[in-house]
Amino acid sequence: MARADIEWTDEFLIGIAELDHEHRALVRDINRLHRALRAHGDRERIQETLGEILARLQAHFALEETFMKDNDYPDYAEHKAEHEALLDTFTGYMVRFEQEPGAGAGAAIEDIVDNWIVDHIVTHDRKMSLMVKG
Ligand SMILES: [Fe+2]
Repeated sequence: MARADIEWTDEFLIGIAELDHEHRALVRDINRLHRALRAHGDRERIQETLGEILARLQAHFALEETFMKDNDYPDYAEHKAEHEALLDTFTGYMVRFEQEPGAGAGAAIEDIVDNWIVDHIVTHDRKMSLMVKG
């Protein structure tokens, strides 16, 4: 059984309006993926949603990285490495889903988007916001 939607809570807010706005959009995309998997949506629709999440992640991480540089964020390298690891893992799962689009691959993707991405927002992104905003 595929997972339930992520419920957005104010705990996800990091206090930087434009990044909070994008995090909300990202959670909406992730929930679209959950819905497609729950409905046993066709493979193409799921792959399209995965592609949209990947595109959003790439654009969003680029924005965050520019923000960190502009603000001379001291942990820039560590945070950027975390983004790269996340993208690598996500694309790895996308490839796996393309090759064997079964429930196992779907569940693995849901696991990473629910746990890793949300964890990234509430730990790394929040820490960055606290340090930059002082
Ligand atoms: Fe980040």
